[in-house]
Amino acid sequence: MTIRTLPLRSRTSGAVLAFFAPGERVESHALVSRLPAASRAVVRAALRARKFSGKAKEVRVIALPSATVPVVVLVGVGKRSELHRRRLDLCVRAGTMALKAERVRDAVLVLDDVVSGSARRDAVLERLAQQVVENVSLAKYAFRRYKSGSADRETPTLRSLTLLVEVKEVAAVKRGAQTGGIIADALTLCRDLANTPGREMTPKTLAAAAQQAGKSTGFRVSILGEAQMKRLGMGAILGVSSGSKEEAQFIIMEYAGGRKPVNAKAPLLFIGKGVTFDSGGINLKPSNGMAEMHLDMSGGAAVIAALSAIARLKLPVRVVGLVPAAENMPSGSSIRPGDILTTISGKTIEVENTDAEGRLLIADALGYAKRYKPSLVVDVATLTGGILHALGQWLAGVMGKQDDVVEKVRAAGVAAGDDLWTLPLWEEFEDQVQADFGDVDNSGKSRYGQPIVGAAFLAQFAGDLPWAHVDIASTMTPAEGQYLAKGATGTGVRMLVELARRAVPQKK
Ligand code: BES
Ligand code: MN
Ligand code: ZN
Repeated sequence: MTIRTLPLRSRTSGAVLAFFAPGERVESHALVSRLPAASRAVVRAALRARKFSGKAKEVRVIALPSATVPVVVLVGVGKRSELHRRRLDLCVRAGTMALKAERVRDAVLVLDDVVSGSARRDAVLERLAQQVVENVSLAKYAFRRYKSGSADRETPTLRSLTLLVEVKEVAAVKRGAQTGGIIADALTLCRDLANTPGREMTPKTLAAAAQQAGKSTGFRVSILGEAQMKRLGMGAILGVSSGSKEEAQFIIMEYAGGRKPVNAKAPLLFIGKGVTFDSGGINLKPSNGMAEMHLDMSGGAAVIAALSAIARLKLPVRVVGLVPAAENMPSGSSIRPGDILTTISGKTIEVENTDAEGRLLIADALGYAKRYKPSLVVDVATLTGGILHALGQWLAGVMGKQDDVVEKVRAAGVAAGDDLWTLPLWEEFEDQVQADFGDVDNSGKSRYGQPIVGAAFLAQFAGDLPWAHVDIASTMTPAEGQYLAKGATGTGVRMLVELARRAVPQKK
């Protein structure tokens, strides 16, 4: 999608996407008021026939007798004083869905519709442009690679978006739109990787995707195969992978931007769970919903995509991404319940449940992470079904032993569009993962509080690292009413990129 930023008075063509709060007059809208008389008459008649109230997410489509502006899409944003990030995300996506349904190719919007009168206008508009671009792209996305019908392939989609702003604001908005475009591309990459079925998206395919991303955006990638993992003592990853015909891969990505990255000696370190298919293993999952488990590498995809965006944004930071990738399958060579695995740190894991496999991969990744002496460690993982019960599908859970680290991750996620809620990782939960025969038990003694028990398990391997765990099983697929296509949502990408952006000291 081409994104343009132009001064308000420019001549443009394309569908108009216009945002309104209750009580605002559609007729006096900057673009609507400039329409030819015949079109304005149509808008007036349409509004007379049925009022447009302007409440949040209300959408009205008005077709016009004009070749240059074929349609006006009115989107309500509700009371402006109550317009928060999440609501605006949804309003932008609701409008985009209408454009999509109308098969609009080119759309134009006035950024001032969305924000008005504020101090630090430039900064606000820059961020707003980024948010609009990301959300248009999020709503526009659909995974169509395996659709063979030509009708489906040829369905026109939005190819250009023009943002109109005051002349003096063009530069700031251009910057925001460019950032948004880069992050939108990363979200698309993340969703494409995650949506690819398990038969194709094997650990090796994921590793190749990381290599490809590194080559095209500018970060280093090295891959460890099973022999190397064995030498390093990564018994937990190898254990998970042992039931599969696909070889496990440990993907290492390293990015260092600028001549002197601010944190050259202490990188940010992101870990993404890369289970390319989670059958549950010998503790086989029920059939219901198992097909979704090719999305169990969503955390890994988010880390690969975030590094791509960080590299393209040329942020002057050092970031390491680790993606332990394996397939969890039942077979004669699978790990059994009761097996005891030795991790890279020497700590042993008693496998009470082979379906609690994500934490096994991350345990070895946390052990490997220590050599980088990172200043921040965040793992992103579709770790537990329990997080869905706790939070629903609108947000993910964040946990950790160090409150300042958890808060930093939470705040970055919420600001960037990945909503997060903090769950308590009390020491009492750590008692639940003490094992009878090994050191740590992978599934805990209680069936309650599983997201926290998962975090308590990981805490045994994070040790003193400045670490936070983000359980994204809840946001892996969209909630009803999020205006997102079925399948992967791209959860985690915006949070990780925002963490890297926040690691850069701000001028002034
Ligand atoms: N990948 C699943 C978690 C999951 C469930 C992700 C639903 C997305 C949607 C994970 O590996 C798993 O199976 N977790 C178990 C843990 C249990 C055995 C302690 C779970 O949540 O049941
Ligand atoms: Mn599992
Ligand atoms: Zn899993």
